Amino acid sequence: MMEGCFVINGIEKKCTFEPDAMLLQVLRDGGHSEVKRGCDTGECGACAVVLNGELVNSCKVFAASVVGAEIVTVQGLGTVHRPHVIQQAFVDAGAVQCGFCTPGMILATYSLLSQNPDPSDQEIRKALDGNKCRCSGYVKIFDAVHLAAERMRDHG
Ligand code: FES
Ligand code: FES
Repeated sequence: MMEGCFVINGIEKKCTFEPDAMLLQVLRDGGHSEVKRGCDTGECGACAVVLNGELVNSCKVFAASVVGAEIVTVQGLGTVHRPHVIQQAFVDAGAVQCGFCTPGMILATYSLLSQNPDPSDQEIRKALDGNKCRCSGYVKIFDAVHLAAERMRDHG
């Protein structure tokens, strides 16, 4: 076992983990069940987090390689009582069905809109390419991204 600190949603946490543990496992063991395990092979985006400002699939990142990193999970953006504008847009657009893909979709949207406040459909498709949804057919998710972008532009 080894020990390392991570800054998770702004709070420094000391974690103990196997040298070959993936970041996904460490986050979930630390109580971050909002980070979902889907494929475990880097293909579905359910486990996405923002790691030092970049969207990554945490099932493909060795925890030992990112000790000290700043990690944002969907919980770091907002809560049920104080949702982030992107979370609210997903709800308002009806883009949350079973909800399994939603944390990853929201973080991918957050990452996209941080760089591109007014994305086209094609840019949204590219940004969400690594995030799979089995329920929605993606149309409402695209609507949610446009709605979030519009609201974020309106609120500066
Ligand atoms: S669980 Fe990590 S990409 Fe699917
Ligand atoms: S809402 Fe169920 S997988 Fe996307």
